[in-house]
Amino acid sequence: MNKITVNLTRKAGNSYEIHIGEAILDRMAMILARNNWAERYVIVTDTAIDALHGERVQQALRQTDLKVERITVPPGEAAKEIGTVLGVTERLTGLGADRQTALIALGGGVIGDLTGFAASIYMRGIPVIQVPTTLLAQVDSSIGGKTGVDTAWGKNILGTFYQPKGVFIDTSFLGTLPDRQLASGLAEVVKYGAIDAPDLLDSLDAAATEGSLREPAFLERIVATACRIKKGFVELDERDNGLRKVLNFGHTIGHAVEAASAYALSHGEAVAIGMVAAARLSEQLHHLPADDGRRIVATIRALGLPDRIPANLDLTEIRTRIGRDKKRQGQTVRFVLLKKLGVPIVNGSIPEELLTKTLEGLKKG
Ligand SMILES: NC(=O)c1ccc[n+]([C@@H]2O[C@H](COP(=O)([O-])OP(=O)(O)OC[C@H]3O[C@@H](n4cnc5c(N)ncnc54)[C@H](O)[C@@H]3O)[C@@H](O)[C@H]2O)c1
Ligand SMILES: [Zn+2]
Repeated sequence: MNKITVNLTRKAGNSYEIHIGEAILDRMAMILARNNWAERYVIVTDTAIDALHGERVQQALRQTDLKVERITVPPGEAAKEIGTVLGVTERLTGLGADRQTALIALGGGVIGDLTGFAASIYMRGIPVIQVPTTLLAQVDSSIGGKTGVDTAWGKNILGTFYQPKGVFIDTSFLGTLPDRQLASGLAEVVKYGAIDAPDLLDSLDAAATEGSLREPAFLERIVATACRIKKGFVELDERDNGLRKVLNFGHTIGHAVEAASAYALSHGEAVAIGMVAAARLSEQLHHLPADDGRRIVATIRALGLPDRIPANLDLTEIRTRIGRDKKRQGQTVRFVLLKKLGVPIVNGSIPEELLTKTLEGLKKG
């Protein structure tokens, strides 16, 4: 069992704890009962997670006499939109939820983002507790307080910064997570290894070789390491004005590849390709040692993640999508590159030809 405190000193009241361990639902029930964050709790989850874990979580909380209800939304990114948030708030009103009610986001990044958003606007803000059930949510999206939903104009266009009261990471949820989803989360762990903790790459390589990627002790260790790294960046830059941007390593190209695949590639798969591209650019522009680049690629391969752009994707479309990012940020695409493993640098300008050549070099067949 690991406990990490996120100290947001600017507003001490915003600080919160991340509890990590196997089977911590009982502990969570006790902490909720003790903290008096709310008089009643509403679990928000998706129908797929609900079928697997909803009843168990609700029962664990009810053991301590907490008043707990449960509402569900459809699974998948398509549900991360304002209509779903309105539906959730309508259900809350129907249940008579008031400012003494807290939401529990039980699910992956989609549930975390949309429930956090709903909590941040319902009656001008009610508490939210994050209970992430995908590896991606456990190592990334449940920490840091970014909430939001997608619109027809893009991902996460509507959103807030809204820190949870607490994060409870039960690694036993990962037992039902499909392999592809697990790998998607592992890509984010590779990211933390590349920007901050190269040792993580060795741990991932070893676990992949031994076939122990799903072992509880291993998962708890990498989740705790990832949370520690993310919380460090969040504490330094809660509102994502500077330093926190290094968490976007692999994401500028990754997002473009993900969208160009029409989301046939998972987020982690696209980020894996993005990290390989960023490593190549880093070798060219910042003298990243070739060995460091090779280490990133080797770990990505060991985890069964792609390191090349699939042949059916259109490079021009990927380029255009990267360019759209550029417009949003006022003409410069802010690529996060590496000087060496563990030493990121935010680069404002990549020569167009170099970017094209790099993408061409990564294209399959
Ligand atoms: N807020 C942030 O800082 C942040 C950071 C990264 C990503 N995100 C967001 O996270 C979202 C992606 O999250 P995700 O990858 O967790 O996807 P997701 O939430 O869509 O979950 C993936 C699928 O796994 C299923 N699932 C969840 N837990 C399960 C379990 N334990 N067993 C079996 N199935 C389970 C879900 O029903 C869903 O179908 C994106 O919308 C992205 O924008 C947010
Ligand atoms: Zn990501």
